[in-house]
Amino acid sequence: MNLSNALLRWYKKYGRDLPWRKTRDPYRILVSEIMLQQTQVPRVVLFYKKWLKEFPNWKALARASNAQVIHAWAGLGYNRRGLMLRDIARELSSIKHQIPKTEEGWRSLKGIGPYTAAALAVFSLRKRVLPIDTNIRRTAGRILLGKPFPQPADDDRIRSHASRFTLRVSRFYDIPQALFDLATKICTKTPSCVMCPMRSTCLAAPKFLSGRVRVPKQMVKKSFENKHRDKPYPDRIYRGRILKVVRESIRGISVDTLGLKIDPKFNRVQDQTWLLHMIDRMIKDGFLERKKANLIDIFKNSC
Ligand code: ADE
Repeated sequence: MNLSNALLRWYKKYGRDLPWRKTRDPYRILVSEIMLQQTQVPRVVLFYKKWLKEFPNWKALARASNAQVIHAWAGLGYNRRGLMLRDIARELSSIKHQIPKTEEGWRSLKGIGPYTAAALAVFSLRKRVLPIDTNIRRTAGRILLGKPFPQPADDDRIRSHASRFTLRVSRFYDIPQALFDLATKICTKTPSCVMCPMRSTCLAAPKFLSGRVRVPKQMVKKSFENKHRDKPYPDRIYRGRILKVVRESIRGISVDTLGLKIDPKFNRVQDQTWLLHMIDRMIKDGFLERKKANLIDIFKNSC
């Protein structure tokens, strides 16, 4: 059986039934793709449905204030992504703008990178382009190039091999979806090649099955997030708590009280610089507003 048929047969049987796979609406595709950046699929499913009830289309989202967006995004992390999505909705809802009809058109919008533009091109416009994120790079790079741990520099070769192997596939848009699922269920960092539908054609499978592949040192979990060395969670978690506490405090809140509310072990002396640093960053990013000249005093959600 040829390579893409084996993949698509497996996908038909084991692929995940995800809500954004039942639509071509660019708004819904974009919402899902932005939410899926750094958030696990089951969590995104919940937020995606809730988000669409509150903001069913570009126009509804374009009307949303910062506070509404941050509230609806709470729990997904990285609030800036939610605000960026709203800003794209505002731009696309303005009279002079049309919904892009090409990958390049999507790429020209602020906040949309090459991966997201390609995802919109294949899932919404049904173009034959492969969006390459870390999952697709790992899976397609192993199958097609035989590299156990493909790198971004391999993307062009992955794309050209993929287009050769999928020439006869009519539903090309199922190929990346199948690769996402294979990457999550089987072709993980240390893959389960024995269970893989691609094991007889994958160029990396013999290497893994021989038991001689080692995970490169630089891939052993490394965090790109900021984290205070004495705190159990990354700063992202504490920033989420700051927003929640400030939103719920009617007349603002002092830094000391805020510290204790986001972390019961907050130490006024040792932790103050850390907290002020997070607050400063959140003010700079437009999530909080300083209501009094004295920094230690009152912060309030901006709208
Ligand atoms: N990650 C990014 N896009 C995805 C999609 N459409 N399905 C599953 N995982 C994804």
